[in-house]
Amino acid sequence: MYYPEELVEEIRSRNDIVDVISNYVKLTRKGSSYFGLCPFHNEKSPSFSVSPDKQMYYCFGCGAGGNIFTFLMEYENHTFPEALKMLGERCGVELPQEEYSAEARRQADFKTLLLQIHKEAATFYFYQLKQEGGRQAYGYLRDRGLSDETIRKFGLGYSSKYNNSLYQFLKKKGYSDEVLKETGLIQMDERSGAYDKFWNRVMFPIMDGNHRVIGFGGRVMGDAKPKYLNSPETKIFDKSRNLYGLHLARSSRKPNMIICEGYMDVIALHQAGFSQAVASLGTALTAQQALLLKRYTQEVLITYDSDEAGTRAALRAIPILKDAGLHTRVIQMEPYKDPDEFIKNLGAEAFQERIDKAQSSFLFEVEVLQRSYNLKDPARKTEFFEETAQKLLVFTEELERNNYIEAIAEKYGIGYQTLKGLVERRGAALGGVLPVQRPRQSQGGRKERVDALESAQRLVLTWMISDERLSTAIRRYLGPEDFTEGICRQVARQLYEQQEQGALNPAAIISRFSDMEEQRQVAAMFNTTLKKAETQEETEKALQEAIRRIKQNSLAMATEQLEPMDMAGLQHLVDRRRELERLHISLD
Ligand code: UTP
Ligand code: MN
Repeated sequence: MYYPEELVEEIRSRNDIVDVISNYVKLTRKGSSYFGLCPFHNEKSPSFSVSPDKQMYYCFGCGAGGNIFTFLMEYENHTFPEALKMLGERCGVELPQEEYSAEARRQADFKTLLLQIHKEAATFYFYQLKQEGGRQAYGYLRDRGLSDETIRKFGLGYSSKYNNSLYQFLKKKGYSDEVLKETGLIQMDERSGAYDKFWNRVMFPIMDGNHRVIGFGGRVMGDAKPKYLNSPETKIFDKSRNLYGLHLARSSRKPNMIICEGYMDVIALHQAGFSQAVASLGTALTAQQALLLKRYTQEVLITYDSDEAGTRAALRAIPILKDAGLHTRVIQMEPYKDPDEFIKNLGAEAFQERIDKAQSSFLFEVEVLQRSYNLKDPARKTEFFEETAQKLLVFTEELERNNYIEAIAEKYGIGYQTLKGLVERRGAALGGVLPVQRPRQSQGGRKERVDALESAQRLVLTWMISDERLSTAIRRYLGPEDFTEGICRQVARQLYEQQEQGALNPAAIISRFSDMEEQRQVAAMFNTTLKKAETQEETEKALQEAIRRIKQNSLAMATEQLEPMDMAGLQHLVDRRRELERLHISLD
């Protein structure tokens, strides 16, 4: 960050968050906070809260949150400097221009510049579609059943037959070759000079969740290969963190999200009224994309192509969605290949029926498994049920497991008791205890440990913020250096500092993070209302567990860093570890 912290803090503290947000959202006071309808997702009852004490906002529905800067960045699509400038003007504080280091300014401005160029390019392609030269492309889109409204909504366009018309256009606007090269839209080589990446293709602008164009996909109008070209990754285009159609889907007011494979699927679905459809960007679904979906919904419906590749992609996506905490169901599209084709042939109502009938991802997995067993062969049939029983062990809740046993028993014609017996014997064989852990993918053990550690650290920080008594107890055992994971490290350092000075100021902590996702996470930490433990004893126990986990980790890390001959250091750590074993927290 290249503005002095004091300046940022002054501007922040001179703009009351309730005043500013009231300009955008109708807020009503309830107790010590204000509530309104969240501007970042659609809802009917207000879960968007603004706290005058903390000078923060937080949505209990979608998890959007942060301080006044974050709000303007999210709502107005401002960059941080823009938000700072706007609030500075509002309270009469001028930003000292010379404070920027040239390099820092270049970095921040560079992204803005790339976004601006992408916007210009999208406008250019869109315009070309309606020109004489774009006649074929326009016809192509109309032939594929897209209405003018849909074309406009998705900003579809055309890149002309000439292989440098975008380049010429952008040059005339005054952009330098050096910058254009970084957009991924223009390629340069010494022999042929500068030329467009996309030409003679139908253009699909790709937008981020805030309606900003960050890249393009371009489709040939026939059967040539490659069917699609896509923008390469750039400073503004990260394929693993964006989803096609999300800017529209995030406010669709639907009870779920639909994930499909292609641009055309998303568009066809939206046109048919399924405005909750998104697609990954020509790559397999990533964990970041799953978490992005989790912000807006609890349930994801997969509608990948019904061919083998699509099935494989669905099987890969299911555990990723599950790990993000999403309910997942799979839509069957047979006899059609993809949602686009399905809707063209059977219409929206029939697709809605398929949504209603979509089966849980577990049943889908079993169904796919079944395809590799010939159930007419008794030996194979036995194997299939053995394997299914094994799979059923992932359900650790008895009721849930029994419900699945029942569904499968019915579907595959095996007695409920028989299958249940099989599951239980399997479980017993694996160590006598039900439930058995779901096998995690690749080095899951370590990842799980780190996740647990990070949640413990977050939890403890939340306690420190929300409860004076707990805070005192925690500070007796943990120092800021014990917080090692992710954003916890920085939050802890500042929190300890502020508490030492006797003034908690969460909004100032948020300003220290430049990444919006991080700001959101910090806001969540400060706004989590923890379920009150029933008794003091329970609180103490929970506290003790979290502190022990955190301390064990930091001692282990210290041990690793110890010089081999540092006997005193070793002794010290051994003592600490003994202490930890005896750790008993009392809030009295
Ligand atoms: P599809 O071939 O299913 O594309 O590939 P589609 O969007 O349904 O297009 P139509 O209906 O055939 O016109 C699914 C997605 O995979 C990526 C694109 O993101 C596409 O939308 N893809 C496909 C590529 O990136 N390159 C290709 O050559 C093909
Ligand atoms: Mn397709």
